[in-house]
Amino acid sequence: MLQAIPAVGQVLLLALGGWLALQGNITVGTFLAFASYLAQVIGPAQMFAAMISATQRAGISARRIFDLLDSVPAVTDKPDAEPLPPVSGEIAITDAKFGYLSSEPVLDGFTLTVQPGETVALVGTSGSGKSTVAMLLARFHDVQAGSVKIDGFDVRDVTVDSLRGQVGMVFEESFLFSETVRANIATAGRTPPTRRSRPRPGRRRRTSSSWHYRTAI
Ligand SMILES: Nc1ncnc2c1ncn2[C@@H]1O[C@H](COP(=O)(O)OP(=O)(O)OP(=O)(O)O)[C@@H](O)[C@H]1O
Ligand SMILES: [Mg+2]
Repeated sequence: MLQAIPAVGQVLLLALGGWLALQGNITVGTFLAFASYLAQVIGPAQMFAAMISATQRAGISARRIFDLLDSVPAVTDKPDAEPLPPVSGEIAITDAKFGYLSSEPVLDGFTLTVQPGETVALVGTSGSGKSTVAMLLARFHDVQAGSVKIDGFDVRDVTVDSLRGQVGMVFEESFLFSETVRANIATAGRTPPTRRSRPRPGRRRRTSSSWHYRTAI
């Protein structure tokens, strides 16, 4: 809108000047001189208008960034939280109840047990809560009732850092960080072994399954 005003003004002034010249109120020379000065002024005026609107957009974006920086995470460590020791991966979700709005539960009385090394596929209609179950495991949200345990440790009793250090997640929306391929495929904050540091077969260190999968490819 701001950028359109100088252009509209130019059209109106040219129309008025042309009409005055035709009527003989001003000479054609005066009209042409005025029109050429006007053409020189219009560029800077449009640039000034563009600067004002860019400044306003930058102000709104900055406010949103500061809102985000000021936000307090809903999931935090308990004062007596202990780090999660290395786990074998037994998952027990018992009677879990969770909803993004407490009035609309996504999961209600959800129970699932997964043994270490077992592969489980959750199948359901879109929006039925499959991703939500995975998010409860890494404690992106806390259950409103019931419990989520890994190797018998309730995820709310251990530190978030140590928990997420042992839970890898690959979302369907892929996102590449401006980093090396190696850093991008390192899941759960773990760096995959380099060629030099990779242990010999038989003495392999446990690394993320995602790393083995990609190595196989
Ligand atoms: N951050 C959120 N805020 C509010 N509601 C959400 C949020 N994330 C998911 N939901 C809602 O929770 C419900 C379960 O979502 P979820 O993503 O777990 O489903 P899904 O089974 O993984 O679906 P899909 O097969 O499409 O991936 C849906 O109704 C969804 O709209
Ligand atoms: Mg999903």
